[in-house]
Amino acid sequence: MNPLEHLVVQAQADFAAAADAAALENAKAKYLGKTKDQIETVLNVRRAAMADAQMQARLNAEAIDVTLPGRGRSKGGIHPVMRTWERIEQIFGSIGFDVADGPEIENDWTNFTALNSPENHPARSMQDTFYIDGNDTLGKPLLLRTHTSPMQVRYARMNQPPIKVIAPGRTYRVDSDATHSPMFHQVEGLWIDENISFADLKGVYLNFVRAFFETDDLQVRFRPSYFPFTEPSAEIDIAFGSGVLKGRWLEVSGAGQVHPVVLRNMGIDPEKYIGFAFGSGLERLTMLRYGINDLRLFYEGDLRFLKQFN
Ligand code: DAH
Repeated sequence: MNPLEHLVVQAQADFAAAADAAALENAKAKYLGKTKDQIETVLNVRRAAMADAQMQARLNAEAIDVTLPGRGRSKGGIHPVMRTWERIEQIFGSIGFDVADGPEIENDWTNFTALNSPENHPARSMQDTFYIDGNDTLGKPLLLRTHTSPMQVRYARMNQPPIKVIAPGRTYRVDSDATHSPMFHQVEGLWIDENISFADLKGVYLNFVRAFFETDDLQVRFRPSYFPFTEPSAEIDIAFGSGVLKGRWLEVSGAGQVHPVVLRNMGIDPEKYIGFAFGSGLERLTMLRYGINDLRLFYEGDLRFLKQFN
């Protein structure tokens, strides 16, 4: 009989001798508690010794080439549009503009009505809107904001003039081609004070594009346009004095004097205050800065494209 068989026979005898349940459990502990633990410990010691021996054998067999280069981790980089976003915050921050952030899911009122585009107004169709199933708590239809302009109203309702703020963020429209993507980025600018004029807006914007494009050889012009929330309204064009785009007027922003109706919706007295606003596309600014001609490149995730900016 081997020792294990011997143990089993002994256990059998002990269990048979147990007169009640308590005695049986006592007998069980004698065999299954300590004995089992001891055997497991020896087993694990042997396992570890075997693994060590195996590793040692491999190290002896395969020489390690210490001159091989390590497997470096490649570093991530900031997306070119995000880099533009950061630069914009930095440039406007340096001339005293606050930076505000707001919801991408908006309601009908802030995105359109408060900005002087009442329901059924034809100007609403300037923007093809993604409506969302459902309403907000006041029963107003929800949508993905079509522009950052609702931030003008949100910010001004919470802050007293003088107001100097930019609000960069994601915006959405049903639109997709070489110069439009269904999700894109804008930066809104709002400046409300008692005695400012278009000349101040022009000065600020000129300062911004010169810093952004890192050249003073750059002109800015305001060209008449239409937006429901500004009167008068303008497009801001820039022209570089040198480089491949030299001399061409390029549209970079909408702008204008905040409409009195919008000021009232902000709770601001249009007889006392005057406001200027602008809204620029971040993809557009990024494309001009780097000479990119297809906006879709930003969102394809192609590393060959993205790596060029890091
Ligand atoms: N929200 C406009 C758009 O997306 C852009 C814009 C135009 C913003 C004029 C402004 C502005 O603040 O004054 O087309």
